[in-house]
Amino acid sequence: MTQSAPADPAQRRFLFLLGSTRREGNSELLARRAAAHLPAGAEQRWLRLADLPVPTFVDQRHDGGHPEPTGNLRTLLDATLDATDLVVVSPLYWYSVTTGVKQYLDHWSGWLRLPEADFKRRMAGRTMWAVTAMADRDPARAEPLAGTLRISADYLAMRWGGVLLGNGSRPGDVLTDTDALRRAETFFTADDAPEAARPAPAWATV
Ligand SMILES: Cc1cc2nc3c(=O)[nH]c(=O)nc-3n(C[C@H](O)[C@H](O)[C@H](O)COP(=O)(O)O)c2cc1C
Repeated sequence: MTQSAPADPAQRRFLFLLGSTRREGNSELLARRAAAHLPAGAEQRWLRLADLPVPTFVDQRHDGGHPEPTGNLRTLLDATLDATDLVVVSPLYWYSVTTGVKQYLDHWSGWLRLPEADFKRRMAGRTMWAVTAMADRDPARAEPLAGTLRISADYLAMRWGGVLLGNGSRPGDVLTDTDALRRAETFFTADDAPEAARPAPAWATV
């Protein structure tokens, strides 16, 4: 059966994956504002990808398969599987996610092939969100980032919560983006996250 997001907010567990290369930058500040308005009772966990370096991803799909994840990779896999809501907090770097976030996503390819992880079936029905800071004032410039995450979520039959965008260059700038701060207040509770764009495929229903 497809796993869906728990209806009871107290059963929701939000994992915030911080993808900036600097601490307390704009994307993190905006995410913390949004997290102050999580559904009542929801748990939150924060992991900074820069504190959890992982091996450079090597495609071993057709070369004996990927080894069992250990160390930081295991921490990230377990945290991902434990979350009902995955929040990718990434500044816009060259119109997409940061290298750290991309590296994390690349490792999903290995996790998808770990029989014991059952990654594809277990991620189905969970929700992915994004929080992004960018120097540009044109939200359309963030479309490649949004598309990368939204379509990746769709690939796993996850729900897509949307992107919370904020403007800023120097750390702290985003705190002057009053529109973004207002959107942050209802970002996680607006409850309009659409179902994944396509029906759950067969592998998610066995
Ligand atoms: C390597 C790099 C690439 C960037 N690329 C973009 C970009 O494509 N578009 C943009 O609007 N801002 C870009 N920026 C600016 C950052 O998105 C902006 O400074 C943001 O506030 C940084 O977020 P942070 O404080 O959470 O790290 C880039 C910054 C860096 C360091």
